[in-house]
Amino acid sequence: MGLFRKKQEKPHNDGSLRSVAIIMDGNGRWAKARGLSRSAGHVAGAKVVESTLSVLREYGVEAVTLYAFSTENWNRPKEEVDGLMKLFSEYLSGELAERIISSSTLSLRFIGERDRLPEDLRVKFEEIENKTAGRPFVCNLAINYGGRDEIVSAAKRLAALEREITKESLSEMLYTAGVPDPDLIIRTGGEKRISNFLLWQAAYSELVFTDTLWPDLDRAEIERCLLEFFKRKRRYGGLNAEDLKEEAGKKA
Ligand code: IPE
Ligand code: IPE
Ligand code: MG
Repeated sequence: MGLFRKKQEKPHNDGSLRSVAIIMDGNGRWAKARGLSRSAGHVAGAKVVESTLSVLREYGVEAVTLYAFSTENWNRPKEEVDGLMKLFSEYLSGELAERIISSSTLSLRFIGERDRLPEDLRVKFEEIENKTAGRPFVCNLAINYGGRDEIVSAAKRLAALEREITKESLSEMLYTAGVPDPDLIIRTGGEKRISNFLLWQAAYSELVFTDTLWPDLDRAEIERCLLEFFKRKRRYGGLNAEDLKEEAGKKA
């Protein structure tokens, strides 16, 4: 007894976890710790995406939104930005693109402002979106995405259409229209902030922060994050079923 570490409990999705978003942070620090360039860190990070999606899919998640490049990430050195654009382009070509396109389950979509992105990337986005549309498991890849820009452009579009601005109409104009708001947002890399990600959609998301750097994220760590989510009690400003029952018991 006590010789073996207790095996970690496996998360069980009771249906409350439909949508997950991830701030994939820590590539730079992962590379630095190994004496590698930041770009090498991004290459290592890209390798974890597929396995993360398949673990989440296994747990019954329907939609995953991944933050790959923010509107503020243009402020990085040109070499790093160019490296990232090249990486996105390579990632969406060849073997991996083939696997995504030929899978019958995954719909890959791209969210963010496309105008500033290289032409070849925009063409790839469209091709992949068209070929994978309508499948049950949705992955939104956020590239040149900013939450504030997203809200401003949604409001502008409603104004141009002379439509009333309501919570529903505004949600419909966001890149994520039709995708459930994230139940859970995971940020790897130890920072505890949102960094302009899904500002509108995160209104009632549970936030889980892990110190694990993105390229090191593995099944065990994802499962720890999911377990933390399932332990949370969501209240949405009201009371949850358990609290209500307890309160009713007191009145009886
Ligand atoms: C996240 O990793 C990837 C992008 C922002 C593109 P970082 O590059 O921010 O890694 P750290 O935070 O410097 O370790
Ligand atoms: C957030 O990470 C953006 C992505 C993971 C794509 P950053 O590294 O850019 O965030 P800050 O600068 O630490 O807030
Ligand atoms: Mg970072």
